[in-house]
Amino acid sequence: MTESADTIADKPQRPCAIRVRDLVQTFGGPRAILDGINLDIYRGETLVIMGGSGCGKSTFLRHMIGSLQPDSGDIELLGQSIIGIEEEQLNEIRKRFGILFQSGALFNSMNLRDNVAMILMEHTDLPEETIDIMVKIKLEMVGLREHWSKLPSEISGGMKKRAGLARALALDPQILFYDEPSAGLDPVTSAEIDQLMISLSRQLGVTSVVVTHEMDSAFTIADRMVMLDKGRVLKIGTRQEFEQIRDSTSNDLSTDEALIRQFLTGSFEGPLTQRKQTSNYAEDLLGLVAPQIASRPAVTPTRAKV
Ligand SMILES: Nc1ncnc2c1ncn2[C@@H]1O[C@H](COP(=O)(O)OP(=O)(O)OP(=O)(O)O)[C@@H](O)[C@H]1O
Ligand SMILES: [Mg+2]
Repeated sequence: MTESADTIADKPQRPCAIRVRDLVQTFGGPRAILDGINLDIYRGETLVIMGGSGCGKSTFLRHMIGSLQPDSGDIELLGQSIIGIEEEQLNEIRKRFGILFQSGALFNSMNLRDNVAMILMEHTDLPEETIDIMVKIKLEMVGLREHWSKLPSEISGGMKKRAGLARALALDPQILFYDEPSAGLDPVTSAEIDQLMISLSRQLGVTSVVVTHEMDSAFTIADRMVMLDKGRVLKIGTRQEFEQIRDSTSNDLSTDEALIRQFLTGSFEGPLTQRKQTSNYAEDLLGLVAPQIASRPAVTPTRAKV
């Protein structure tokens, strides 16, 4: 039997699918893009990663899937470190997770069936008939079985996402990574993708790690959430904890909480805006801490309210 999102989020000590320790990445520059990240992602949970543009979310994801090596620190996937291991070993571990990137990463010259089948042909010795059945199952899971013969150019953006998900599911992964799964989709299609992600996580018990800017989606799918800021974990907590911060009307929030509230509500005023106003060119160029200057008066929006 599968557990509800709430019971999963409440359990304090659960086996980890992913453990990240002191992860640092500078890309050779003066400023750390990832600045000592520590994070435990529990088996079976859906963890949403949030943070401002350029704060390092995709970079962090790329470390977790082994496509980038950090300057220092460690990442364990399903109990095995992926830092500094041979490519062959990494490829074995890669079979245990699926990735859904923004584009869906489909091959344009292949129909949907072949797009999914090629993963199975590449990584298994299964006979063609078995592969055929498995492909049908995966396409059915994402609601595309009847569209198997279509080329990616013949389907909509939402269908491409679902086809990408069928590909990601091909090898029955234990972990699914998503980078902006609802980007570029209309609100209804985006909500459909959310429901698909929830049902896959409940049906299959997979661990899901989701980077998203869409707050409606984040609060629909998350068991826990993590907010990154300047390459560090600003807060990790249950969805309910983040809901409390989002909905708080208190003036006594800590600076971090006020920053999180502004981010979650997309508010015009708050510490994030102040920080942008007080940053200067040198900080942008060199990653130096800017001297505090008096904040400018807020700009009055001129766009007409609809
Ligand atoms: N390979 C790289 N070499 C050098 N710098 C990089 C590299 N990859 C990413 N960066 C830098 O790391 C920072 C974080 O980028 P990243 O793409 O992780 O941000 P993000 O949080 O995913 O942003 P967005 O929300 O806009 O997708 C950026 O300043 C980016 O320029
Ligand atoms: Mg990104």
